[in-house]
Order: sequence, then C-alpha cells, then structure tokens
Amino acid sequence: MLMAEKGKVCVTGAGGYAASCLVKLLLSKGYVIHGTVRDPRDEKNAHLMKLEKAPESLKLFKADLLDYNSLCAAITGCIGVFHVASPVPSSTVQLIEPAVKGTLNVLKVCSEAKVKRVVVVSSSAAVFMNPNWPKDQVMDETCWSDKNYCRETKNWYCLSKTEAESEALDYAKRTGLDVVTVCPTFVFGPKLQSTVNASSLVLINLLKEGLESVPNRVRMCVDVRDLAEALLLTYEKPEAEGRYICTSHTIRTKDLVDKLRSLYPNYNYPNNFTEVEGGQRISSEKLQKLGWRYMPLEKTLSDSVKSYQEAGILDGN
Ligand SMILES: NC(=O)c1ccc[n+]([C@@H]2O[C@H](COP(=O)([O-])OP(=O)(O)OC[C@H]3O[C@@H](n4cnc5c(N)ncnc54)[C@H](OP(=O)(O)O)[C@@H]3O)[C@@H](O)[C@H]2O)c1
Repeated sequence: MLMAEKGKVCVTGAGGYAASCLVKLLLSKGYVIHGTVRDPRDEKNAHLMKLEKAPESLKLFKADLLDYNSLCAAITGCIGVFHVASPVPSSTVQLIEPAVKGTLNVLKVCSEAKVKRVVVVSSSAAVFMNPNWPKDQVMDETCWSDKNYCRETKNWYCLSKTEAESEALDYAKRTGLDVVTVCPTFVFGPKLQSTVNASSLVLINLLKEGLESVPNRVRMCVDVRDLAEALLLTYEKPEAEGRYICTSHTIRTKDLVDKLRSLYPNYNYPNNFTEVEGGQRISSEKLQKLGWRYMPLEKTLSDSVKSYQEAGILDGN
C-alpha cells in the first residue's frame, strides 16, 4: 500500500521503549514522523531528538490519549499512524480508560484525517488469558483473552489490552478504517530511552537482584528491534490485515538465566527456581508468512545487557 509514498506518519507515545526503537527504524527508512509525547520538555524524551535524521525528520507534539484535540494536532497531515502508547503494567483499574478510550480517540482522529492505515500495538496479553483454549493447541490470532476471566482475576493490564484491541478491530469493521493490530509477547532488547520500562526491568532484576527464588515461568519473548520491523512490515505490506502475533522465542526463566550466565558470568543471578504450571504455546506463523524474520535470543540478550551497562544500570554488581 504505502511503499511508494513514504509520507508523514505519526507514532503515539514516541518516547517509550518500543516506540523509540520504531522511531529510529522509521527515520532510517526515510519517513517523516510526528511523535506524540506527554511532555516534550521532559528529560526522559531527550533521546529522541538525538536520533540520526531526527532534527530534520522528527517533530514532537504534546499529546495525551484522553485529549482528542491534542491528538488531532499530531495526526492531521499524516498518512499512517502507529498507535503504540498505552499505560504499561500497573495493577490499577485506572489504566483501562487511557488504553481503551485513548485508542478510540486515536482511531476517530485517523478517520477524520483520512489516514490510510493504522497499526495498533496490542499485546499477547490480549491473546493468552483464555482458560477455555485447549491445552494442547497452539494459540493463534483466533484466540482472544477472556474479558470476564481478566476481570475475575483482576488482571487489569490484560483487560485493557484486550478491550482496546477488540474495540479497535470493531471500529475498523464499522467504519472501513484500515486497522492492523500487532500482539507482541515479552519485549527485550537494547533500550534507547534513559528510563527503565517494565519489560526491561524483568531482565535487569534477573541480572542484579540476587533474588533468593523466582518462579520458573515459561516466557515468550521478542526483540524490540524485531517488533519495530514487524510494525513497519504490517504498515507497508498491502496484504496485511487483522491481528498479528509477534513472538520469537519460548524459554523458561531458569534457561534464560543460564543463557545470561554463560554470556555474563559475574552478575547477581537468582539462586533458586520454583516450578510453576502453565506455559501456553503461541505462534507467529501469520507474521512470518508476511515476511517477518527474527534474530537469535543470544543477540537480544547480549545487546540488552550491553545497553544496561552503557546506562550504568548494572553498576554495583
Ligand atoms: N514491553 C513489552 O514487553 C510489551 C509487550 C507487549 C505489548 N507491549 C505494548 O507496547 C506498547 C509500548 O510499551 P513499552 O514496553 O514501550 O512501554 P513504555 O516504555 O512504558 O511506553 C508506554 C508509552 O505509553 C505512553 N502513555 C501511557 N499513557 C498515556 C496517555 N494517557 N497518553 C499518552 N501517552 C501515554 C507513555 O508515555 P509517558 O512516557 O508520558 O508515560 C509511554 O510513552 C504498549 O502499547 C504496550 O502495551 C509491550
């Protein structure tokens, strides 16, 4: 669809972990970007303007997902939108409104501004909270998290992502707006922003906290750079439609720690692992059929650790 016309695109929540990586990729591909941040003057967004080509091709807009007019200013004039912003794990019910109403605000502005395609970043949290899915069956894009189950278990983040994504796809059906959703699993990989986001913190804690015991969970993960490529691919490929699960590797926490230890033996790793049940399997076959490829886990882990070292986050170990 948009291959030939690399125009202006908007990235919401541009200063966040995944969005910053996407902005970097889009700049490198020659896109002109309107990035939304809640506070353009906040030091935590300073990395954006230091990206290559940013001075000439990136413009930051102050916008909140619940402020329709602020989104209008950022999206008007763009032919594509990457809606990445969403409150990320927090155990409060308050994150639902910005996630759901915020997504609908973005989509309404996109309709008004005649945007050609919107890529919405959802999450595997909108896929795997489904107790009725057969245990031996790999989860694909037809599997949705059960909203009632999310409510009963007070899993507000999963509920927020499930509602936001299903509302987005319903909106697309109702209005004809071209919406594609991407559902990444746990995102690791080097960070560009100075702050520490929730998923990077999981890896950082395994490296430096010397925890007595951690659950030996099955983790499905994807590199932040591969996620950015997936977002670009689903934006650029005319045939992309509907939802795309984005995941690369499945690994238990203990094996993840063993891999980290073999690369970097001297950090303060957990001492014990408790066995836990569960571990659904989830597939990115649909995304791979679209042409998506991913990097080895070892590269993700070593580049992650290097980026934490450069930021001084692992000092003191
Ligand atoms: N990291 C993962 O493992 C993972 C996995 C699956 C899906 N995702 C999804 O990926 C997206 C990006 O997450 P991330 O990991 O990059 O986390 P992040 O660094 O915390 O980014 C979240 C972004 O959302 C913005 N935001 C939150 N509430 C907002 C509001 N009311 N108005 C405007 N902006 C708002 C934040 O802005 P401020 O900086 O101003 O707070 C921040 O830029 C999210 O949609 C998340 O659900 C992440």
